[in-house]
Amino acid sequence: MPSTLEILRYPDARLHTVAKPVAAVDQRIRDLSQAMLATMYDANGIGLAATQVNVHERLIVIDVSEERNEPLVIVNPSIVWASDEKHVGDEGCLSVPGIYDGVERAVEVHVDYTDAQGQAQTLKATDLLAVCIQHEMDHLMGKVFVEYLSPLKRNRIKTKLQKQLREER
Ligand code: NI
Repeated sequence: MPSTLEILRYPDARLHTVAKPVAAVDQRIRDLSQAMLATMYDANGIGLAATQVNVHERLIVIDVSEERNEPLVIVNPSIVWASDEKHVGDEGCLSVPGIYDGVERAVEVHVDYTDAQGQAQTLKATDLLAVCIQHEMDHLMGKVFVEYLSPLKRNRIKTKLQKQLREER
């Protein structure tokens, strides 16, 4: 199993970097995606964006299966369709440990992307997978889910996490 990577934690400014497209799905990208999957499983997450491990390229990994055995490697994703129907659900994030709050997302999205073999794919995602993809794609745009919350809530979260970080050091 590849070793795990360090996950940037909010309010680290590097989380607001906008990722560039992956130029080629090569061994470097396959190795990185394996390390990201290992990091995500180790932290009990269901998704991780390259931004969160301080690599600013459009790559995300996801596994929303019960058995944690259906890894998805998604390179250069773009949402080509989103349902008008939206739903507010609680979200968390490995970069914002211990914080969960409601975010409104499209119930279904269709995503064009390239897989780990370099093949073009289209994914029709609903429910948790749809939410997860939208959350991870936000990371690639430098956006963390707490930015959907009110400034008051966001500042409280910032203060709490900064205090946590100081106590860990
Ligand atoms: Ni996240």
